Amino acid sequence: MKALVTGGAGFLGSHLCDLLLSKECEVICVDNLITGSARNIEHINNDRFSYIKHDVTKPLYVEEKIDFLFHLASPASPIDYLELPIQTLKVGALGTHNMLGLAKEKKARFLLASTSEVYGDPLVNPQTEEYWGNVNPIGPRGVYDEAKRYAEAITMAYHRYHGIDTRIVRIFNTYGPRMRLNDGRVVPNFIGQALSGEDLTVYGDGSQTRSFCYVSDEIEGIYRLMMSDYALPVNIGNPEEHTILEFAKIILRITGSSSKISFKDLPVDDPKQRRPDITKARKLLHWEPKVSLERGLKETIKYFKSILES
Ligand SMILES: NC(=O)c1ccc[n+]([C@@H]2O[C@H](COP(=O)([O-])OP(=O)(O)OC[C@H]3O[C@@H](n4cnc5c(N)ncnc54)[C@H](O)[C@@H]3O)[C@@H](O)[C@H]2O)c1
Repeated sequence: MKALVTGGAGFLGSHLCDLLLSKECEVICVDNLITGSARNIEHINNDRFSYIKHDVTKPLYVEEKIDFLFHLASPASPIDYLELPIQTLKVGALGTHNMLGLAKEKKARFLLASTSEVYGDPLVNPQTEEYWGNVNPIGPRGVYDEAKRYAEAITMAYHRYHGIDTRIVRIFNTYGPRMRLNDGRVVPNFIGQALSGEDLTVYGDGSQTRSFCYVSDEIEGIYRLMMSDYALPVNIGNPEEHTILEFAKIILRITGSSSKISFKDLPVDDPKQRRPDITKARKLLHWEPKVSLERGLKETIKYFKSILES
């Protein structure tokens, strides 16, 4: 089996490449390294692995057959997509269009990495896949949310019109080794601050909630979805909900840091709560998260410590 992974040198993509290689797949990793890093794949020493540096907003020609195309390429952290608004819109629109074209040509099964951001600032909690969302199209986060909503729409159009075999995973906040310390997401932020003795910055009063899924669980869910026969979106995330403030306190406890917590203004359109309803994933994929927050954070902290020491 041959798989192509766009965004394969990113946080999630590199873990997906590892999983696919462990399942004896041949893997082509495509990435332009705009937010990813060659460092995420430098540990891979395998004849079944190849890397193509390419921007998927431009057409991609591949000679080999492809059975599975995982399309993960996109800036993903708020800092990245606020800095790269046009690239984010382009990779969601043109990149997804190009990769669907490649999947069509190769008769490959296509999986889109979508996001819980399609639900925007949700008016229902937890979010089921049937919820259409509450997104501000012209707010600063709109570039990411709308790019992914468009990507979902064109994926379904290729499925319905061209009969392409497609999957859509709505990924909820995921954390783990190979995240970037400075990517602005809450986990690396808090861990970096705790490890360097700085104040942990909580936006707003910290009562907004998030749910965090450990990377190995997330990747297993994505893989199972690809292998399933279900074409409509499926939430993959951890439903265990914590307020941001609770979360800051857990990180302080695990790291044993003497950092304090300080509060800053809430960014525009910051969702107040976000929690997946994973009934579908449980039923269709027999999937649910296995790694506890405590264990996942310990692994992640170990990784960040090694980065800070190197
Ligand atoms: N990590 C999460 O919590 C999370 C949550 C929801 C959705 N997602 C989605 O999962 C995917 C992976 O996210 P991640 O956290 O690994 O982010 P990441 O930034 O670490 O990885 C994304 C990768 O895509 C590459 N890329 C971006 N634009 C590209 C282009 N035009 N051509 C080729 N490569 C390009 C980047 O260089 C990077 O390696 C994204 O599509 C993201 O929207 C992630």
